[in-house]
Amino acid sequence: MSRAGAAVTFSAALLLAGCAGQTTRKPPIEIFPDMKRQPKLEAQEPSAFFADGRSSRMPVPGTVAQGRLEEDPGFATGVVNGMYVGRNPLPLDEAVLARGQERFNIYCAPCHDRAGTGRGIVGQRSLWLANSLHDDRIKQMVDGEIYFVISNGRRTMPGYRFQISERDRWAIVAYVRALQRATSGTIEDVPPDLRRELR
Ligand code: HEC
Repeated sequence: MSRAGAAVTFSAALLLAGCAGQTTRKPPIEIFPDMKRQPKLEAQEPSAFFADGRSSRMPVPGTVAQGRLEEDPGFATGVVNGMYVGRNPLPLDEAVLARGQERFNIYCAPCHDRAGTGRGIVGQRSLWLANSLHDDRIKQMVDGEIYFVISNGRRTMPGYRFQISERDRWAIVAYVRALQRATSGTIEDVPPDLRRELR
């Protein structure tokens, strides 16, 4: 081995010996402290600075967390003054219905099936049976009540307010209405110039 080779091997051995895995209670030598210790208070840490002994201040009454401002409680909850909102606040256009259909097929169809008759895959594989959304009782609910059921669940149905945004929940309500309407359509609902294609 050349001299240079021997020197490289020797210094590599020294370096490795430096990380031989022994533990020590001594703090490492710190050339630059890199802000490892900061004069700050952790969450919930007591402090003598304020009279109440807390380091954090209580939020001012009425404080709203960022992104949680509910300017329209009816839109957010489906309930106004203790009554279900009567009509879907979203415009009932093609984009809203398409979004509602997509979200329904993701979030509701596993139990209620894509047509809403309550024979989804969950009920086929278990005893957890969902309702048919075509029951007269559910057809007669106002939009806000369906929104409320999606948000908070009812009896054995879980709530979906954490998974589905408010806007999407209303879009789903619109689509549930379209599904319900679809089973009670008559030829009168078809524009006259398209009727011939159905016969
Ligand atoms: C995990 C299964 C499951 C999913 C997913 C689910 N549901 Fe349900 N749903 C049920 C069950 C079970 C019931 C029957 C509740 C009962 O009567 O105990 C029900 C009942 C309902 C009812 C009737 C409530 C009543 O007053 O009887 C509506 C409306 C409804 N679901 C809408 C929806 C919509 C819309 C979605 C999609 C956002 C959805 N559900 C997703 C299981 C589910």
